[in-house]
Amino acid sequence: MRAFRPLNRSLRAAFILAFVGLVISGCKPASLPDATSPAAQLYVSRCGNCHVPYPPHEMTAAMWDTQVTMMETKIQAAGMRPLTSEERASILDYLKRNAGTE
Ligand code: HEC
Repeated sequence: MRAFRPLNRSLRAAFILAFVGLVISGCKPASLPDATSPAAQLYVSRCGNCHVPYPPHEMTAAMWDTQVTMMETKIQAAGMRPLTSEERASILDYLKRNAGTE
């Protein structure tokens, strides 16, 4: 019986770690498509500082056009650096490529 104790203890530790890991990963915001691509990172850095970056599939391509224009007003109102035309194009391209269809 004694010999099993260390095993039980490490098993219990493994279960606790697995459970904590599940809870933590379950609470993470949904990960973005192509999260490591330069366009996704630009999106997070320019569109994820006032709110979490919205998942691209939540809007259609046409809605993204409108949203980005509206957000440019917010960016300006907040006194943040405006999007350059390259940033705007790259972000919109990323959003539209991964946009929803309805
Ligand atoms: C200066 C802060 C700020 C930045 C930067 C910003 N947003 Fe927003 N965003 C807001 C606020 C505030 C709202 C809340 C809705 C409102 O007031 O219209 C919002 C709401 C949204 C919504 C939800 C609108 C809805 O109808 O539910 C989307 C989508 C969005 N932002 C996308 C973006 C995108 C894309 C970018 C990058 C181009 C961006 N945001 C950058 C402030 C910001």
